[in-house]
Amino acid sequence: MPEETPHDDYNNSSRIYDLLLNPFLNGIRNAFVDWAIIHQPQGVLDVGCGTGKQLSLLPKNMHAVGIDLSEAMLDQAAKQAQGRCRQADATAIPFNDDSFDLIISQFALHEKETATIELELKEVKRLLQPGGVFSVVDFDLPDEHTFIAGFFKWGVARIEQQAGGEHYENFKVWMKRGGLRSILKKNGWELSEEQLFFKGNVRLTFWKLAE
Ligand SMILES: C[S@@+](CC[C@H](N)C(=O)[O-])C[C@H]1O[C@@H](n2cnc3c(N)ncnc32)[C@H](O)[C@@H]1O
Repeated sequence: MPEETPHDDYNNSSRIYDLLLNPFLNGIRNAFVDWAIIHQPQGVLDVGCGTGKQLSLLPKNMHAVGIDLSEAMLDQAAKQAQGRCRQADATAIPFNDDSFDLIISQFALHEKETATIELELKEVKRLLQPGGVFSVVDFDLPDEHTFIAGFFKWGVARIEQQAGGEHYENFKVWMKRGGLRSILKKNGWELSEEQLFFKGNVRLTFWKLAE
């Protein structure tokens, strides 16, 4: 019997992922690059790097690597972030303790079950050097109750609904738990900086471990 290929959630979407999402995400990705150029991290790890888009935008001389589980996404990453991305599971990342002074996670946490999110956050703590920064881009609840903020909130939920299945169920749990800031705080992180996108429904955030 041939060995069964493990299911890859991104098999169908990896080729069009950047094409569809770049128009919405370019502003966030560029804001992150601006931050990285100012802060000059010595070693960057992108957990769930996907197609490698964010890594590809960082200066070539910045030491930055990524891991992802999906072969389909890694195929795309091989084209645009040559040599920077490798296959690994975010719950057991094959690097030594204290290996990086900047770890990033962009749109990779909300689609996971709570227990998996907690394992991934533990891995980040293990790999981050003392005083290091964890930067997360993900969905949050907007602070303002305006029509436009509500409209973006509705739009985000519809996009996640399209992803369907477990992904959508996990997104709903993520939002019920209060979204990005609430979940990171519950896991012992302290917010040091943030930039709001889509009226605060998406945030580029920077965290340090609470003392
Ligand atoms: C929504 S995509 C985001 C990709 C990229 N960070 C971006 O901003 O476009 C989530 C990524 O997390 C990856 N992923 C999911 N579970 C993972 C795991 N256990 N270990 C590593 N990567 C994982 C998926 O394969 C996918 O590429």
